[in-house]
Amino acid sequence: MKLDRRKDLLGIKDLRREEIDQILDTAIPMKDVIKRDIKKVPTLRGKAMVTIFYENSTRTRTSFEIAGKFLSADTVNLAVNTSSVQKGESLRDTLKTIEVMGFDLMVMRHSMSGTPHYAARCTKMRVVNAGDGQNEHPTQALLDMFTIKEHKGTLENQKAAIVGDIHHSRVARSNIYGLSRYGCEIRVVGASTLMPPEVEKLGVKSYYSLEAAVKDADVVNVLRVQRERQQAALFPSLDEYAELYMVSPQRLKGAKDYVLVLHPGPMNRGVEISSSLADSTQAVINEQVTNGVAVRMAILYLITGGKRVEEVAS
Ligand code: CP
Repeated sequence: MKLDRRKDLLGIKDLRREEIDQILDTAIPMKDVIKRDIKKVPTLRGKAMVTIFYENSTRTRTSFEIAGKFLSADTVNLAVNTSSVQKGESLRDTLKTIEVMGFDLMVMRHSMSGTPHYAARCTKMRVVNAGDGQNEHPTQALLDMFTIKEHKGTLENQKAAIVGDIHHSRVARSNIYGLSRYGCEIRVVGASTLMPPEVEKLGVKSYYSLEAAVKDADVVNVLRVQRERQQAALFPSLDEYAELYMVSPQRLKGAKDYVLVLHPGPMNRGVEISSSLADSTQAVINEQVTNGVAVRMAILYLITGGKRVEEVAS
């Protein structure tokens, strides 16, 4: 199975390694398009794409929109807060309304896990999951993997530490599913209240000590503390969280010399990551954002039926 044979992209858990490879390989010529003076190829001319975000976003929504525009698709954002969703229109009716306008593809973010999967069953449009609750954020994991591969030359057998709010993190889950396809040693580290029960069943090693988790690490992926998803106070204060789990150059001394530091954004500087680390050459946070456009271009291209990378490069 290749991605160009699927109707939807809903999660990394379902993807085979060959599909991930196809996306990452296709993102390379897409990144070249972004670097051109004229950032436009006719690949998706005549296709229409809508972004529907029931949760806030800067990077994912905007990068999908510009990715579609660079590929010459017609792109529209449905602003949920000023839409008829606010008059009580159901998700199913909203989707049908959008579908009959002639859209081919929908990019959806929702606070409830599984909503894009439900949407994919309700509509003929292709559905790409832009983050669903605490479940998955597949395109974030793919751009993270693309960034790691660019820097390390391979995804094989990397020692990767994922630090922070593992329990609430769809980014962590998608990264775990993705990196485990390449034989990586995946370590998760955080406070016990931020660790899902039985996390080791996902094939990871869990740690409570940041220093132990990052020892000899090739990659450290720092997660945002998601205050909006915490019903109860899961740690005493942000200061105390930072004391134990804020990743900084000092705390990375035991990692490999060329350890790569990722963060999906948006950052809480001084909470989960120090400003000195975020602004250092070890951190590739802005590159991740650029790569997000390239990877999303690859996904839009492949999911709408594109097969040959040469089509893009020409
Ligand atoms: N990383 C990420 O999903 O960022 P946004 O919420 O800004 O899209």
